[in-house]
Amino acid sequence: MEHQQEETSNIPHVLIFPLPLQSTINSMLQLAELLCLAGLKVTFLNTNHNQQRLLRHSNVQSRFEQYPSFRFLTISDGLPEDHPRSVEQFGDIISSLQTVAEPFLKEMLSDVVEEPVTCVISDGLFYYAVDIGNEKGVPVITFDTISPSCLWVYLCLPKLIEAGILPFKGNELDALVTHIPPMEGLLRRRDLPHFCHLDDYKTDLNSQAVFKEIERIPKAHGLILNSFEDLDGPFLSCIRSSFPKTYAIGPLHFHLETRFAAKPTSLLSSSNSLWEEDHTSIKWLDAQSMGSVIYVSFGSLAVVSRKEILEFWHGLVNSKVKFLWVMRPNMLKGVELHDQFMKELVEGCKGTGYIVSWAPQKIVLAHPSVGGFLTHSGWNSTLESVTEGKPMICWPQYVDQRVTSRLVNEFWNIGLDMKDICDRSVIEKMVKDLMGTTKNKYKKSVEKLSELAKISVQKGGSSYHNLDSLIDEIKGLVR
Ligand code: UDX
Repeated sequence: MEHQQEETSNIPHVLIFPLPLQSTINSMLQLAELLCLAGLKVTFLNTNHNQQRLLRHSNVQSRFEQYPSFRFLTISDGLPEDHPRSVEQFGDIISSLQTVAEPFLKEMLSDVVEEPVTCVISDGLFYYAVDIGNEKGVPVITFDTISPSCLWVYLCLPKLIEAGILPFKGNELDALVTHIPPMEGLLRRRDLPHFCHLDDYKTDLNSQAVFKEIERIPKAHGLILNSFEDLDGPFLSCIRSSFPKTYAIGPLHFHLETRFAAKPTSLLSSSNSLWEEDHTSIKWLDAQSMGSVIYVSFGSLAVVSRKEILEFWHGLVNSKVKFLWVMRPNMLKGVELHDQFMKELVEGCKGTGYIVSWAPQKIVLAHPSVGGFLTHSGWNSTLESVTEGKPMICWPQYVDQRVTSRLVNEFWNIGLDMKDICDRSVIEKMVKDLMGTTKNKYKKSVEKLSELAKISVQKGGSSYHNLDSLIDEIKGLVR
C-alpha cells in the first residue's frame, strides 16, 4: 500500500489553462490527451461558459472517461452569462478572467491542496500565471498556440521600437520591414499584426497583452509550440537561440491520431467543438467530385460586415466553383446573422454552394472532394490544411494571421494571399486560379509538407522526439 502511494505521488500532475477560445481549447485538449496517454495526471481548467458549450456540442465527456487521471475544473470568466464574448471585446474578456484566475491559481499552486500541481501549462497571454508559478515555486511552461513565425515577430518588436521603425511612419504598406531575421525581404508592413499600425499601440489592450507575454517568456520554464521542424525550422531556431527549452510538438491533432492509433482516439470520433457540428456538410461533399470543392471558413472569432459577406458570396458564385461555407451565427459585425439575409444567401447559391453554421472541419479538410481552403489563416486551420495537403487562399484578420498568410504565399508556396483586399472580382479570380490554373503548383508543395508533417509525428520524427523530451522534462519536475 505504501509502495502504491509512493508510485502515485511520482506521477506528475499538470494543470492546463487555455485561453477561453475554440482554437486554444482545441490544441490544449489535444495536448491534454497526449499527456494522459503518456500516463500523466491532468487537470484542465476551463471557464464555466465554455465548459457548458463543450459538454453540449463535443464528445469530450465520453472521450476523456477512458483517462481516470484526467479531470476538468471550471471557473467563472467574471462576465455576465448574456455577455456576447465577441472578439471585439477580447481585451475585456481577458482582464475579467484575470480577476478570477489570479486568486484561483494562487490557491491551486499552494502547498495546502490535496493534489499538488507539478507544473502549469498555460497560454502565453496569461502572463500572470508565470509570475504566480515563480512566486509559489511551481514551474510554468508557456504554450503559445499562435504560429511560431508570428511569435518570433512579437519577440523582435522591442528591436523595431528601439530602431524607431515602430510605430510606422507614413502609409507605405508595401515597405519591407527590417530587424526580423530570417524574414527580411519577405515581410511588408501590411503583413504585421494590426496593432503595429496603431499610433497609440502602447494603449491598445491587445498589444499590451503581447508585450507582457514576451516579457514573461524568458521567465517561464519552457515553451511549447504547435508546429513541426520541417515547416517552421528557421523561426524555431531563432526562438531557441533565446529559449533553448522550446518544444515543437505539432501538428497536435495529427500527433494524437498517428502516435496513438491503437487507442480508441480517432480523428473522426474526436471533437472539441463549442458549436454544434453540421454533419450534412459531409453528405453534401460525398455527392461532389474529387477535388472540386473549395471549403470556406473564417474560424471561430472573425466578425465580418454584411458588405464583405456579399463580396465573398458573389465572388464564389461567379467563380462557378462548388463551395462549402461556414457562416457562424455570430459572424456578422454587431448583430446575429439575420434569418432573411441567410435564407437569401442559401437559396441564391443552391446547386453551387452549401452553407452551414459550423462544420466538422478536420473531417471536411480530409474529404477527397475538397480541393482547396479559403481561410482566415488561423494557426489551427493552417496546420489542418497543411496536414491534409490542401492549398489555401488567405484572407487574414487578427493576431498571427497576416504573418501566416504571407508565409503561405511567399515562403511555403502553398497558396494565395488576398491580405486586406475584399473584392468580388479578386475573390472570383483567386478561386478560379487556386482550383484551376495554379492548382498543381501549390498542391505539389502542400502535399510535400503534408508528408513531412506525417513523418514528424511518427517514431523517429522531430515532433515525436520533442514530445518525448517534454514528457521527460515534466516527469523530472516531480518534487
Ligand atoms: C484564433 C486566432 O484568430 C488565430 O490567429 C490564432 O492562430 C488562434 O486563435 P480562430 O479563429 O479560432 O483563431 O482560428 P483557428 O486557429 O483556425 O481555429 C479554429 C478551429 O475551429 C480549428 O481547429 C477548426 O478546425 C475549428 N473549426 C472551425 C471547426 O471545427 N468547425 C468550423 O466550422 C470552423
